[in-house]
Amino acid sequence: MIFHQPTKLFFGSGEAQKLQAVVEDDLACFRTLLITDQGLSATGLVKALTRDHMPLEIFDAVEANPSARTVNRIGDLTRRIRPELIIGLGGGSVLDAAKAAAVLATNPGLIEDFEGLRRYTAAPAPVLAVPTTCGTGSEVTKGAVITDTQRPFKMSIKGPELFPAAAIVDPDLLSSLPASIVASTGLDALTHAIEAFTAKSSNLITDQFALQAVKLICKAIEPAYQDIAANTAARESLMYGSTLAGYAFGNSDVGAVHCLAESIGALFDTPHGVANSIFLPYVMRFNLPACANKYAVLAEAVGIQGENEEDLAAKFIERVEDVSGKVGIPGFLELGIEAGSFSRIAEYSAQNGSNASNPRVAGVQDYVAILESAAAGDSR
Ligand SMILES: [Fe+2]
Repeated sequence: MIFHQPTKLFFGSGEAQKLQAVVEDDLACFRTLLITDQGLSATGLVKALTRDHMPLEIFDAVEANPSARTVNRIGDLTRRIRPELIIGLGGGSVLDAAKAAAVLATNPGLIEDFEGLRRYTAAPAPVLAVPTTCGTGSEVTKGAVITDTQRPFKMSIKGPELFPAAAIVDPDLLSSLPASIVASTGLDALTHAIEAFTAKSSNLITDQFALQAVKLICKAIEPAYQDIAANTAARESLMYGSTLAGYAFGNSDVGAVHCLAESIGALFDTPHGVANSIFLPYVMRFNLPACANKYAVLAEAVGIQGENEEDLAAKFIERVEDVSGKVGIPGFLELGIEAGSFSRIAEYSAQNGSNASNPRVAGVQDYVAILESAAAGDSR
């Protein structure tokens, strides 16, 4: 059993204000490239955090489900300006794009050449990750998920050198997050925690992080959804939960929920958190025969009482469904995905690198059945 976590973590309300000190004093870097998205760029947050310390360059065109083309553009930029540090300021898409671009900063080629584990020869450039949503966990993991729009397929670029050098995780950055994004990214983090806890590759250490993350997220997500700006405790709990879930799945893995979400993300550009949120209860029902004992542990951790293991496990799935409903997660049909696409989605899901970690063996027909359940709105 190996547990690897080298990212230096700065956590707490107001920590993002120390960005310049972390860059210059802790990381001893002065030539920086800051990567973000246009929505965040327009809010003035970049200026507010960098103040007199202007990054050498800003790239603010990362899209949801970041594409290989965008990462290759950033790679060209890094080769031109040679930053000592790449700062990713944003949600999971931005952080993953920053980590992938860090590979291209020190290695020739396109990002498509680096799909898989440790395919680079030179260590990637150091990354400072500053998450602005409560769902990614990418700030403390060794992977980046990038969409190859040609296939289309979500590639994983992984390696121990891809852990960010440091992460600044500041719950205050969530204060102006729209409620729908609180819901989808919070449930993405809950999915990370549940899938990490039940994955075949889970272990005693990842279980501790996953269990704590489930407790924190289940308690905080509804009040945060209602008014995250006014609820300091809820946004801190969500941020803790998101990062702890990152520690968990970064060393365990995710499972069938992510296999489905990444497939429809690549095929239909569905936002990652939304897709995970929709599929989570359906996959939990499918996985129930293989991990009722673990769902029962999670049930007790969130205060559910039951007569036996089966009862507790069933009630935990109902709790997840209940939470999804209360935070306005859309139904599968709202995605507009036709039944004619199910076999292709299922094939992509079965090919996903995390499929082997799912607690119950899931083949193409199983994924089709899960998709049909989601389309029927029937998770039982
Ligand atoms: Fe995720």
